Formats: sequence, structure tokens, C-alpha cells
Amino acid sequence: MLSFLLYCVVFILVAFVFSPLFLGVPFLPTHRKQARKMMELAQIKPGMKVIDLGSGAGRLLFLAAKSGAQATGYELNPFLVIWTKLLIFLKGKRGQIKVFYKSIYDADVGDADVIMMFLYPPHMKKLETKIFNEAKTEVKILSYVFQFHNYKPIANEQGIFMYKKMP
Ligand SMILES: C[S@@+](CC[C@H](N)C(=O)[O-])C[C@H]1O[C@@H](n2cnc3c(N)ncnc32)[C@H](O)[C@@H]1O
Repeated sequence: MLSFLLYCVVFILVAFVFSPLFLGVPFLPTHRKQARKMMELAQIKPGMKVIDLGSGAGRLLFLAAKSGAQATGYELNPFLVIWTKLLIFLKGKRGQIKVFYKSIYDADVGDADVIMMFLYPPHMKKLETKIFNEAKTEVKILSYVFQFHNYKPIANEQGIFMYKKMP
């Protein structure tokens, strides 16, 4: 029992240290209030396809799924991918939520209705070209805390910046 607890503690510590050390972005879940606000701003409806770029422990994925969306996460911290997969299994959400051990730069954003992220400025700069080139028209893009460089948000509430790709 003691060794199991020790494994759990080590797993959690390594999960937290991995992202800032190897990916340059710490793992910080979007605050609960703002996470709910993101869902509200995105007006998520059943059947919509929602992507979280850098999905962490899956908070945004589970909230989106609660509103009936098909949610997909991309995450390169293997510990967080394992954790999210375990939660998906335990909560019986395998038909609704997927998480890939894959870089945000290789994410397939082409059919997403909503793209969410909580990343750092260097990623925002690199991602904006990919997202605005590859995402479909009318997609809603929401970023917590950090803004894109060359696009103006259509809404800005509680530290959440929302963008729309116009036709
Ligand atoms: C600030 S956390 C946000 C977590 C989650 N989106 C949320 O809001 O609760 C950023 C996440 O992005 C992940 N990340 C950073 N760079 C990445 C990359 N190149 N590809 C995939 N995930 C990445 C980190 O491991 C971390 O879990």
C-alpha cells in the first residue's frame, strides 16, 4: 500500500515537472470558472467537434463532452495523456473523448467547430498561421490568457480571447 502511494506521488510530481522542463509550458489547468465561461462563449452544442491544443489533464475536454460535444485533445506530456485516458475510461466517455500523444503542431484542426487552448506566447505566434490556414471557416477559437499576434479577438471576457475565422 505504501509503495503504491509512493508511485502515485512520484507520478504526479513527474507529470508536473515534465511540461515546463521539456515542452516549455507548465501544466496549469484552466481555472474552473473560466473553463465554464469558455464553454458558454463557444456555445457548444451536441455533436460539435471541439479540440483542446495542449489538453493537460482534460478539464476542457470533459466540460465540452458534458455539453454533448465530441472532444479531442492533443498533449505531449505522456503522464497527462495516461491520466486523461484513465479518466476517460473510468467516466465511460470513450465514445465522446479522445486524447492523442501528439504535438499541437501536428493536430488535425480541419474539421473542428471549436478550438481551445491555454498556451504560452511563443506557441501562440507559431500556431496562429496553422490554425487560420487549416481550420474551417466559422470555427471559433478560444485562448485563455494569451492572444494571437496578427488577429483581433471578437470577444474578450475574463481573460478569454475568442476569435472567429471569417469567410
Ligand atoms: C497551461 S496547460 C493547459 C491544459 C489544458 N488545456 C487546460 O486548460 O486545462 C498547457 C498544456 O500544453 C501542453 N503542451 C505544451 N506544448 C505542447 C506541444 N508542443 N504539444 C502538445 N502539448 C503541449 C503541456 O504539457 C500542458 O499540459
